Amino acid sequence: MQELMIRPTIYHYDTCKEFAQALQIGKGDLMITNKYIYDPYFAPLQLQCDVLFQEKYGTGEPSDEMAEAMYKDFKGNPKRIIAVGGGTIIDLSKFFSLKVTTPILDLYDGNIEPQRGRELVIVPTTCGTGSEVTNVAVLALVSRHTKKGLAIDEFYAHKAVLVPELLKTLPYRVFATSSIDALVHAVESALSPKASETTKLFSYKAIEKILQGYMQIRDHGPEARIPLLSDFLMASNYAGIAFGNAGCAAVHAMSYPLGAKYHVAHGESNYAMFTGVMKNYMEIKSDGEIAVLNACIANIIGCAVETVYDSLENLLNVILPKKPLHEYGVTEKDLKEFTDSVVANQKRLTDNNFVPLDAARYYKIYKELY
Ligand SMILES: NC(=O)c1ccc[n+]([C@@H]2O[C@H](COP(=O)([O-])OP(=O)(O)OC[C@H]3O[C@@H](n4cnc5c(N)ncnc54)[C@H](O)[C@@H]3O)[C@@H](O)[C@H]2O)c1
Ligand SMILES: [Fe+2]
Repeated sequence: MQELMIRPTIYHYDTCKEFAQALQIGKGDLMITNKYIYDPYFAPLQLQCDVLFQEKYGTGEPSDEMAEAMYKDFKGNPKRIIAVGGGTIIDLSKFFSLKVTTPILDLYDGNIEPQRGRELVIVPTTCGTGSEVTNVAVLALVSRHTKKGLAIDEFYAHKAVLVPELLKTLPYRVFATSSIDALVHAVESALSPKASETTKLFSYKAIEKILQGYMQIRDHGPEARIPLLSDFLMASNYAGIAFGNAGCAAVHAMSYPLGAKYHVAHGESNYAMFTGVMKNYMEIKSDGEIAVLNACIANIIGCAVETVYDSLENLLNVILPKKPLHEYGVTEKDLKEFTDSVVANQKRLTDNNFVPLDAARYYKIYKELY
């Protein structure tokens, strides 16, 4: 089996100025970002690159329609795409780095052979997706009423650049949702049948960094995160390396229908499913890697292993309160629809479940979380 693959070269710079100088950002580059990220960090550097602001094309998480509208506004033929943003900007930019980007549904359906078109540099500004090191991009497919990931080698960045300075402006809520997303990446990849000894090193280190950071925030308030932003960025990168190899699973699969239909932020919709899925895994199989994981989490947060998910939820609720599904507007009828959508659309993920789950089990989990 494959032990570990990291495709992009990973760089770390303390400041945007150092990053811009090292990569000689200028003519021929197109930076995809948000104005409120560009203005404080890059405008003072007076770079000669073109810039496209994603928020002009809609709010919320990315969709195929948003990607196509942005692509229409490309001027000339940029040689290099520099994505500076959260998962939304990163995932859109992965499509723009292809030789042929549209129609996007044809890429999903395999009607267009994906080919590299441009160099891709990814700079995450949230501490969640790990998308800078994965070959996955996730878009809402508007006409199909779901979010779906596309995993192709052409989506790997050439360079992944970590600049912790960029996270200083990250609103607390996005910090919370994105870091919970990273925690779920780390947990799902640790439990995946595709995990190796080496990928688990990255999973467990990410879990440790994130939970230790959360305990600081619990004990000292939200501002305690500021000196830890670099740790959270590294943790999300480690979790990205882990799930880029071993994959995510049922938590992500079950969260996509909720995110797509009720526009719940990705990390928040993951959290809504997280411990529900874990408890159901435990009902089916309580030994093996899940026992290792539970002991690891119990040790970090200082609780009994028998009550680990309740203690974990108590800690996570300080960061982001968990809501039952009906509070997002979900109806009982949706639960059946969501179940069908998981079975029809998310096999890429559910193949990595810790133990196989069937439609009846997905429905049971949704019902318990309702
Ligand atoms: N490709 C993958 O492997 C992968 C993995 C997990 C999640 N995702 C996707 O990533 C998306 C979620 O990404 P996210 O959690 O990073 O959030 P996001 O990109 O949606 O950003 C959330 C909000 O925070 C703002 N923001 C981001 N960084 C900022 C900063 N430094 N300062 C000020 N504002 C900032 C954004 O403009 C946006 O309004 C979802 O679409 C999800 O499906 C992809
Ligand atoms: Fe995720």
